[in-house]
Amino acid sequence: MAKILCILSAIVFVVKTDDVSEFNATIPAVNMTLNSTVNRTIAFKTPVFSLFSTTTTANKPVLGKKNMRKKNADDKRIDQDEDGKHETKNGTADAKKEPDCPPASTPSSPGPPASTPSTPGPPASIPSSPGPPASMMALPDPPCVVTSPDCPPLGLKSLRVDDSQFQASSYLRMGLGPHRARLNIQSGIEDGDMYDGAWCAKYEDQHQWLQVDALRPTLFTGVILQGRNSIWSWDWVETYKVQLSNDSETWKTCMNGTEEAVFVGSRNEPETPYLALFPQPAVARWIRINPQTWYWNGTICLRAEVLGCPLPDPDNVWQHFSEKLSGSKDNLDFRHHNYKEMRKLMKAVNEECPRITRIYTIGKSYTGLKLYVMEISDNPGKHELGEPEFRYVAGMHGNEVVGRELVLNLMQYICREFRRGNPRIVRLVTTTRIHLLPSMNPDGYETAFEKGSELAGWALGRYSYEWVDMNHNFPDLNNIMWDAKENDTDMVKTANHYIPIPEYYTKEDAFVTPETRAVISWMQDIPFVLSANLHGGELVVTYPFDCTRDWAPQENTPTADDSFFRWLATVYASTNLVMANPDRRICHSEDFQQHNNIINGGAWHTVPGSMNDFSYMHTNCFEVTVELSCDKFPHASELPTEWENNKESLLVYMEQVHRGIKGVVRDKMTKKGIADAIVKVEDLDHDIRSAADGDYWRLLNPGEYKVTVWAEGYFPSMRRCNVGTEARPTICDFILIKTPRQRMNEILAKGGRLPQDLQLKLRALRLRKLRASTKAINQRRKHSRKARGTRFARAPRPLTPLA
Ligand SMILES: *[C@@H]1O[C@H](CO)[C@@H](O)[C@H](O)[C@H]1NC(C)=O
Ligand SMILES: *[C@@H]1O[C@H](CO)[C@@H](O)[C@H](O)[C@H]1NC(C)=O
Ligand SMILES: *[C@@H]1O[C@H](CO)[C@@H](O)[C@H](O)[C@H]1NC(C)=O
Ligand SMILES: *[C@@H]1O[C@H](CO)[C@@H](O)[C@H](O)[C@H]1NC(C)=O
Ligand SMILES: *[C@@H]1O[C@H](CO)[C@@H](O)[C@H](O)[C@H]1NC(C)=O
Ligand SMILES: *[C@@H]1O[C@H](CO)[C@@H](O)[C@H](O)[C@H]1NC(C)=O
Ligand SMILES: *[C@@H]1O[C@H](CO)[C@@H](O)[C@H](O)[C@H]1NC(C)=O
Ligand SMILES: *[C@@H]1O[C@H](CO)[C@@H](O)[C@H](O)[C@H]1NC(C)=O
Ligand SMILES: *[C@@H]1O[C@H](CO)[C@@H](O)[C@H](O)[C@H]1NC(C)=O
Ligand SMILES: [Zn+2]
Repeated sequence: MAKILCILSAIVFVVKTDDVSEFNATIPAVNMTLNSTVNRTIAFKTPVFSLFSTTTTANKPVLGKKNMRKKNADDKRIDQDEDGKHETKNGTADAKKEPDCPPASTPSSPGPPASTPSTPGPPASIPSSPGPPASMMALPDPPCVVTSPDCPPLGLKSLRVDDSQFQASSYLRMGLGPHRARLNIQSGIEDGDMYDGAWCAKYEDQHQWLQVDALRPTLFTGVILQGRNSIWSWDWVETYKVQLSNDSETWKTCMNGTEEAVFVGSRNEPETPYLALFPQPAVARWIRINPQTWYWNGTICLRAEVLGCPLPDPDNVWQHFSEKLSGSKDNLDFRHHNYKEMRKLMKAVNEECPRITRIYTIGKSYTGLKLYVMEISDNPGKHELGEPEFRYVAGMHGNEVVGRELVLNLMQYICREFRRGNPRIVRLVTTTRIHLLPSMNPDGYETAFEKGSELAGWALGRYSYEWVDMNHNFPDLNNIMWDAKENDTDMVKTANHYIPIPEYYTKEDAFVTPETRAVISWMQDIPFVLSANLHGGELVVTYPFDCTRDWAPQENTPTADDSFFRWLATVYASTNLVMANPDRRICHSEDFQQHNNIINGGAWHTVPGSMNDFSYMHTNCFEVTVELSCDKFPHASELPTEWENNKESLLVYMEQVHRGIKGVVRDKMTKKGIADAIVKVEDLDHDIRSAADGDYWRLLNPGEYKVTVWAEGYFPSMRRCNVGTEARPTICDFILIKTPRQRMNEILAKGGRLPQDLQLKLRALRLRKLRASTKAINQRRKHSRKARGTRFARAPRPLTPLA
C-alpha cells in the first residue's frame, strides 16, 4: 500500500457504478469452487487461549546490516553453517519454547515455585515477582504467569479487538473516537472526516482515559503507544498511568513498588511505537491508559496496543469450544521467518518433496541476501510444452509480511497435500509450473523483523536498502506506449505489447535496485502467464493499469483486458474470508467493500513504474496486486487465521492460469514450434507471443474469438476459438506457412540453389507487389494533393532486389 501518493489528491476514486453489471455480463456464470469457504465461521474476533511462543520484539538474532555483507561474502560457508546440526526436518527447532497456560479452570493452583521444568527462566528484563506481594497487583499463582511475561497483543492493531470494546472519557469528534486508538491506524488525507489517525480527548487534563475491554480475565503485561497519524497536526502522549479493573467500576492504578507507575510514551514524534512493560503484570478484564503529559504544542491523542495473555473465563463455558474453531487445522509452520529461517523452511520442503520442488535464486539484494524461489512442478527445472507458468511474488515492500508467510505456508501445504494425494493439488502441480518468491525485498524485511510485529511501525522496512520503493522502480512503459499511440496515425504499427525497456533505464548508473533488475530478468527468462504481487496494509485487490494517463492522481485506467483482470481480482477477493465478510470493519479510511473489494490501480492512486504494469506491457504475464490484511505486520499468533483467510484464494487464483485459449504455433513443413509468434485476438488491443517452443497462452473470458497468429517470415493464420465457462483452456493450435521470400533467404543463406517452383513463385510475387505499390503511390499522391498540408504520408517501402 502506498499511502504517500494519496496525498496528491483528495478526490474519491472514480469507479463507475455500472462496472459490476458490465463485469458479470461478460462472464456467464463461471463455476468457482467456493463451497469450501463460504460457510465458514469467521474466527478472527475470537481470542486464542495460549501463551504464544513468539515474542513481540525481535526474538532472533538477526544479521546486523554491517556484517550482513561480510557474512555473505562467502555464501558457501553460510550454506554450510545453515545445514548445521540444529536443523530438523520440520524446521521448528529454532522456535522458542515456552510453556502453555494450564488448561481452563486451573487458576487457583497451589503456588509452586516459579520454575517450571522445561523453561529456561524468564527473560532478564522482566522482574519475576519480587519480594512481598505488597500491592494489590499481586498475581495468582499459575506457574506460566510468572515465567512467561511475553504476552501477545490483544489485537487493537489487527482488528481482533472490536470497535465496541473501546471506550474513552471524552473524544474530540467521531473521527477521533476511541475506536481509532489502534496502533498504526492511518488517517484519510484530510483530517476531519470519520477516519482520523488516533483517539483524541476532548479535554486537556490528567483525568482523560482510553479504555479497552478484553472481554475476559487477562494477564496484562504492557502497553505500546504511538502518536496521532496526520499530515496536518502533531499530537502525542509523553507519559501515562495505567489502571485496571475487573468490573469497569473500581479501578486500581498500576504500581511501581509503592508509587503509582508512570510510563513513558512517545518521544519527539508521533509515528514510532514505544513499548512499556509493567513492573508487575496483573490480572483484570478492563485496562485504561491515562495520559499525564503530552506534546506541549499538541493535545491528548494516541494510538495503542495492549499486551496481555488471555486467561480462562469461568463465566463462559462455550469459550473452550469456540477457541478450538479458530486458528488453522493445517499443521504448518506458523511464525515469522527471517532470512535464515525462511531458507531453512524452503530446504525442508525441498527435502520432503524432492520430486516436485526445486529451489533456485534469481539474484541478490543490495546487502547480498539471495532472492530464493521455490519452484513446484511435476518436472521441476524445465518448461514443459503447453504447461503454463505461474508466480507469486511477496515482500516487495519488506514490512508487508503476510504474503511472505502465506507463500511459505503454501509451499508446505502443496508439498504435504501432493504427497497425500489430494486430487486438486495433484492436478495443479501436474498441469502448472509454479514459482514462489517469498521475499523480493529481504533487506527491508530484516529491518522490520528486527523491531518485530508491534514495534516496526507503519513504514520501517518498506523500502530497499537504498531507500527505493520497488513498486515505483520498474520502467514506465505505459507512457511510452500512450505517447506512441498518440503520435502514430497508423494504429496497426504501434506495438501494444512487448514494449521494449527504454535506454535510460538500462544504463549502468540508472537508479534501479538490484532486486528490481533480478526480477526483470526473471520475468524475461520464464514465459509466465499469470502472477500476483502480494502486499499488505489494506484489504483489496487491484488490477492494472496502476499508472494513470496524463499524471492524473486518480483515474480509472483500464487495460485492453479489463474484463479478465476484473475477473481475476474478483476470484481472489470473493474467496478471501475477510474481504468476503460483509460485516467487516474498514481497515483505515477507505471503503473498498462498496466496490466488492476490487479496484483499478489507477482509480486508487497512480503508481508509475509498478510491477503489474511492467509485467503486462513487457511480457505476456497478467499480474494483480493483493493487499492481504489491514495490519502489515501482524503478530505471529494471527498467522494461522491469515492462512485460513487466504488459503482458498491462493489456490483458486493459481487455477485461473488454466483459462482462455492455449496451443502451439508450428511450422507447416518442419512441424517445429515457432517462437515469438504474435497472437492477436480481434478487438482486443493487446497481443501476446509464443514462447521458445512455440506454445502460447492467451487468458480470456468465456466467449467466441477470432484469433490471428503471425510470425516473421510466415503468412498469418486465422481461426475461431471458443472459450467455455469451464475452468480449463480451449486448445487452439496454429500451423504457419513460410513465405516464399523467407524460404529463399534461408536457402541462399545456406549457399543452396533455389528450386524451380520457388523461383516461379517469387517472380509472380514480385510482379504483384510492384503493381500494388505503384497503384498505392499513385493513390497517395492523389490524396496528398487533395488534403494539402494535413498529414505526412508514409512512403512505401522500396522493394529489395532479388539477388
Ligand atoms: C449483474 O449483476 C447485477 C447485480 O448483481 C444484476 O442486477 C444484473 O442483472 C446482472 N447482470 C447480468 C447480465 O447478469
Ligand atoms: C458447479 O459446481 C457444483 C459443485 O462444485 C456442481 O454441482 C455444479 O454442477 C457446477 N455447475 C456447473 C454449471 O458446472
Ligand atoms: C465442493 O463441493 C463438492 C460437493 O459438495 C465437492 O465434491 C468438492 O470437492 C468441493 N470443492 C472444494 C474445492 O472443496
Ligand atoms: C452453513 O451450513 C449449515 C449446515 O451445514 C447451515 O445450517 C447454515 O445455514 C449455513 N450457513 C450459511 C451462512 O450458509
Ligand atoms: C517437529 O519437530 C519437533 C521437535 O523436533 C517434534 O516434537 C514435532 O512433533 C515435529 N512436528 C511435526 C509436525 O513433525
Ligand atoms: C481481578 O480478579 C483477579 C482474580 O479473580 C485478581 O487476581 C485481580 O487482582 C483482580 N484485578 C483487579 C484489578 O482487581
Ligand atoms: C519504577 O521505579 C524505578 C525506581 O524508582 C524507576 O527507575 C522506574 O523508572 C520506575 N518505572 C516506572 C514505569 O514508573
Ligand atoms: C504549534 O501548533 C500550531 C498549530 O497546531 C502551529 O501553527 C505552530 O506553528 C506550532 N508551533 C510550533 C513552535 O511548532
Ligand atoms: C510524440 O510527440 C511528442 C510531441 O509532438 C514528442 O515530444 C514525443 O517525443 C513523441 N513521442 C514519440 C514516442 O514519438
Ligand atoms: Zn505494499
